[in-house]
Amino acid sequence: MTAPLPVLRPATLADVATTLSWSPTHEALRRWAGSTVRWPATVESLWADINNPDATTFALESPEHGMVGFGQVRFREQTYGHLARVIVSPHHRGLGLGRALCLALMREAPRLHAISAYSLYVFTDNPNAIALYRTLGFQEKGFHPKLPTAMLMEASLDAFSREKS
Ligand SMILES: CC(C)(COP(=O)(O)OP(=O)(O)OC[C@H]1O[C@@H](n2cnc3c(N)ncnc32)[C@H](O)[C@@H]1OP(=O)(O)O)[C@@H](O)C(=O)NCCC(=O)NCCS
Repeated sequence: MTAPLPVLRPATLADVATTLSWSPTHEALRRWAGSTVRWPATVESLWADINNPDATTFALESPEHGMVGFGQVRFREQTYGHLARVIVSPHHRGLGLGRALCLALMREAPRLHAISAYSLYVFTDNPNAIALYRTLGFQEKGFHPKLPTAMLMEASLDAFSREKS
């Protein structure tokens, strides 16, 4: 019998607390939550800093292991389903959950917004995440307009249907 698959659900403040426990240093937090989050962070400051008006925030729940991932879908430039604040539990990395989380966010994005493509930003010193996004069909498209250490990546809507099969 195969293990039950993790599912996406709306995130709660308790999930934000869990992600903070996965981020023991400023660098660990910055890597997934971005450069603008305050440090030291509290659950409340982190939630206030990442709860952008255009963001829908999800937790990835595993029937076996509980909350194992966290991420957002944003609506960028009225065009892109923008994946943001993607993190997998440090205890469960390398098991395919990052891929499952991103695919689940890519499935949600067109349900939430009238999008024509996907986008995301990733720091150039995060090769594991860049490798993940490349395998999902994302390609480098330059840099963040205000942050030269963050790379813009985009994927076509087809990327989701190709990858889920
Ligand atoms: C990046 C992150 C989400 C990946 O999650 P994960 O569950 O470990 O990833 P998966 O097991 O689904 O791996 C999917 C692909 O990612 C890449 N990858 C993941 N971990 C890797 C590693 N340690 N070394 C090289 N490639 C890696 C590979 O391409 C892998 O595909 P493969 O298994 O076929 O080789 C996770 O490492 C994480 O949460 N990191 C900290 C937060 C972060 O950096 N978030 C991204 C913000 S933009």
